[in-house]
Amino acid sequence: MERLEFLTQKRADDFFREKKLHYINRLLVLESTESTNTLCKSDEISAGTAVLARTQTAGHGRLGRDFLSEDGGIYISFCLSANIKADRLGVITGMTAVAVLRAAKRVCGIDAGIKWLNDILLDGKKICGILAEPTFSGSEYPEKIIIGIGFNLNQQKSAFRGGLSETAGSVYALTGRKSDVSGFVFALSEEIDRAVFSAEQGDISEYLREYRKACVNIGKEVYILPFEKDGRDPKAAFEENANRADFRSETVIGITDDFELATSGRIVRSGEASIKEKDFEK
Ligand code: BTN
Repeated sequence: MERLEFLTQKRADDFFREKKLHYINRLLVLESTESTNTLCKSDEISAGTAVLARTQTAGHGRLGRDFLSEDGGIYISFCLSANIKADRLGVITGMTAVAVLRAAKRVCGIDAGIKWLNDILLDGKKICGILAEPTFSGSEYPEKIIIGIGFNLNQQKSAFRGGLSETAGSVYALTGRKSDVSGFVFALSEEIDRAVFSAEQGDISEYLREYRKACVNIGKEVYILPFEKDGRDPKAAFEENANRADFRSETVIGITDDFELATSGRIVRSGEASIKEKDFEK
């Protein structure tokens, strides 16, 4: 199979030396690693470093779900230190979703949507997932904030096998256009840096506005799938409960100023649940 062009360590070094971003001063470019988030959590990586891998052998998302990490995608984690409390991680994740949308617009020319809280969609298919994780060393402020992004940029349609072909895709598979990896990684780094800077300043209104505009759930009927204490995937719990007469869908009426989901009956915080659109097949 044709080997896709990737970012070289030299180009990355040149970019970060010149750009002087607030939170990231170095990008480590790897052929492969288990998971860029896992590596960033280890002592090997200190705050200020981002890690990019051409492939991951154990890429994962929320709730320990596997994240397909083959050649053609962008698998990157930004490991940073900022004056942001751990309970603001939902806000950082929401702002990261907007940062990804901005980078995708700049480089790929696409207008993607957001499924609450942090899935990026194109033509109804997931093209990107975000996993923000903190590490602690005793204070309420994380020692490191790790923002992991898996973005399906240049994979062929055939990379999305089995059930994934229904739910996921890449920008290339959906538009027929390949994008420059370096350009995308650099634009993403700038946008993430800008988003974290805005979050630290408490300047989030523009991000909220863009998030609300792009959010595909507003006005739609969804099922709220609470995160189970036993760590079980909420989709499995949904299958068990779906036929109960009292298990009802709810209408999404908006996104609160803290990037929470407001339905007609309640407010759902980012760490509490995920959602499933009612019209999706059960
Ligand atoms: C999700 O969809 O639940 C989040 C997926 C996050 C995937 C990225 S890829 C880079 C980083 N490394 C990982 O193992 N996960 C994140």
